[in-house]
Amino acid sequence: MQTNFIIRGFGHYAPERILTNADLEKIVDTTDEWITTRTGIKQRHIVTEGEAASDMALKSSLAALAEAGLEPGDLTHIVVATFTPDSMIPSTACVLQHKLGIKGQMCIDVSAACSGFLYALQTARGYLTLDPEAKVLVVASEVISRRTNWEDRSTCVLFGDASGAVVLTGGDEGETPRVMDMKLAADGSLGDLLSVHGGGSAYSYKLGEPVGEEFFVQMQGRETFKHAVRNMTSICEALLEENGVVKEDIDVLLTHQANWRIIDAVGRKFGIVPEKVFSNIDRYANTSAASIPVALSEAVKTAFIKPGDLVLLTSFGGGFTWGSALVRF
Ligand code: ACO
Repeated sequence: MQTNFIIRGFGHYAPERILTNADLEKIVDTTDEWITTRTGIKQRHIVTEGEAASDMALKSSLAALAEAGLEPGDLTHIVVATFTPDSMIPSTACVLQHKLGIKGQMCIDVSAACSGFLYALQTARGYLTLDPEAKVLVVASEVISRRTNWEDRSTCVLFGDASGAVVLTGGDEGETPRVMDMKLAADGSLGDLLSVHGGGSAYSYKLGEPVGEEFFVQMQGRETFKHAVRNMTSICEALLEENGVVKEDIDVLLTHQANWRIIDAVGRKFGIVPEKVFSNIDRYANTSAASIPVALSEAVKTAFIKPGDLVLLTSFGGGFTWGSALVRF
């Protein structure tokens, strides 16, 4: 059985087009000051016409594969985390496989909203446990701009498009970066606080009917905020306790990038100084499942995360879903 889970490469990609807070001031009744003070967001990347989740996933995946020193044909599994797939069928993982020019691998999409990357990473650890020789591509890709109600100022200022990827394989004792342990959780009773119901089978539509608000992200922000801070903090505490790790051992805290106030609140609850908390929310906004792998890839490439660091990851998203992971670099 494989018990060493090694991240061989990191990659990220965001579309070239940038939408600033000043641009949003021309679309809805908002201000740069409101967005900055409430969220920490200054700009977000937005796809161009014709660019889909699989296109961004292809770019972040090729970057992660190159860093891992692997060819697409070396992969055994492709796991894509997204709540904005290219289509209902085929899965974005299958579309990505085709764009990578390969065939035969197991391909699956994972749906856990902003916790999607950690859910996908845990799925990949399961495949590796079953098949110690597996080489698993874990990629998160979100085109939230196509599921954004651009008339709703309470949500449209919050999100952006991006993709992040890692390649996970087995390894030897002592190899790094190593996923040491993870914890995941969910509470389906709170699902309606953050939803995109439109297009689902619980709702019937007829050919030619216009789409309604339910096709776009709907969120009760204040309630979500409270649950996010509470649940990310408690699942991190539980993970640390189970692994005999104390808060002082954490070198870097990297949370889902939903809102700077949430990131800051989790850091404060842990007594982690702001210098150890990674954030790129100002440049990307909330990219849902993609936020953790994009942030990880940036933090590694800019040497914010250094060899030997113990990194605590945590996420919270629709479902509600949440999770935490410990990674030794
Ligand atoms: N510009 C100006 N004013 C605004 C805007 C805007 N863009 N949006 C809302 N307002 C107004 C509201 O209308 C309200 O006005 P009122 O007091 O006159 O009624 C006021 O600002 C306060 O609104 P709140 O929603 O209470 O503001 P809050 O301080 O809670 O901030 C926010 C809102 C940023 C959404 C915050 O609640 C948040 O970040 N929530 C958590 C988001 C999150 O973590 N999501 C999880 C993952 S997402 C996923 O899984 C896809």
